[in-house]
Amino acid sequence: MTSPKTIESKDEMTPEYRALVKQLLESQGYREVMAANLFGHAMKHIPTLAYKKLVAHQLEEELEHFEEAAKLYHDVTGKDLLNAVQSKMERVPYPESWTELAMAQFLYDRAGEFHLREYRTCSFAPYARIVTKILEEEEGHEGFGEQVVLELAKEPKNRAILQTLFEKWLTVALLSFGRPATEGNRFAIAAGLKSRDSGAVMNDFINDIKATMTACGLQFPERDKIGIAMPDDIDLSLPA
Ligand SMILES: [Fe+2]
Ligand SMILES: [Fe+2]
Repeated sequence: MTSPKTIESKDEMTPEYRALVKQLLESQGYREVMAANLFGHAMKHIPTLAYKKLVAHQLEEELEHFEEAAKLYHDVTGKDLLNAVQSKMERVPYPESWTELAMAQFLYDRAGEFHLREYRTCSFAPYARIVTKILEEEEGHEGFGEQVVLELAKEPKNRAILQTLFEKWLTVALLSFGRPATEGNRFAIAAGLKSRDSGAVMNDFINDIKATMTACGLQFPERDKIGIAMPDDIDLSLPA
C-alpha cells in the first residue's frame, strides 16, 4: 500500500475523508470544551487558592485548545464547532467534590491526551500541527489529577470513595476513545488520519494507569461492569 498523502486544505479531501475530519474535530472539540466545563463547574470544590489558580489556568488552556479545533472546523465545514457539539454535553457527569474532580482529571483528561497523541502524524497536516501544540500543554493536566488522587489515597478513609469514583470515571474515559475495530477506524488508519485502532490506544491507557492504581489500592471493576466495548485481549490484571 502506498503511504497516504498529506492534505493541507479541504479542497484536496474526498467526501469520505472530509466527513472523518469533521467527526474527529467534533470529538476533540467536545472533549476540550467539556474539560473546561468540568473545571468551571468544580471550582467551588477546590480547597486551596493555589489549586484554584492552577485549575483556572488549565481551564483557559482547554478553551484555547477548543478554539484551535474550532478554527479548523470552520475552515473545513463552514460551521460553528460549539454549536455542533453543544447537545452532546449531557453525556459526561459533572464532578461533585474535590476528590471527584481529581479522579476525572486523572482518567478523563489522560484519556483525551492518549487519544490525541494518535494524531501527531495525521495526514491532515493543519490538524497534526495543532495537536502537537496542544499535547505540550496537556502533559501538565493529567499529572495534576494523578498527584491529588495519590495524596487522597494515603488516607484509608478515602479509599472506598476513590474506588467508586474510579469506576465511574473509568467508563467515561474509555467511552471517549470511541468503539474499537469499526469500519471508521479502518478507513481513518488507511487514510493516514490516525495511526492505530481505538482498541490499541485503550490498551495503552489501561496499562498506563496501573502503577497509580496499585499505589492507591484501586481495582478494575469486572469487565462487564465497565459497560464499554473493549478488545478481548485487554489485560485488566494489576502487577503484584
Ligand atoms: Fe485540552
Ligand atoms: Fe487537559
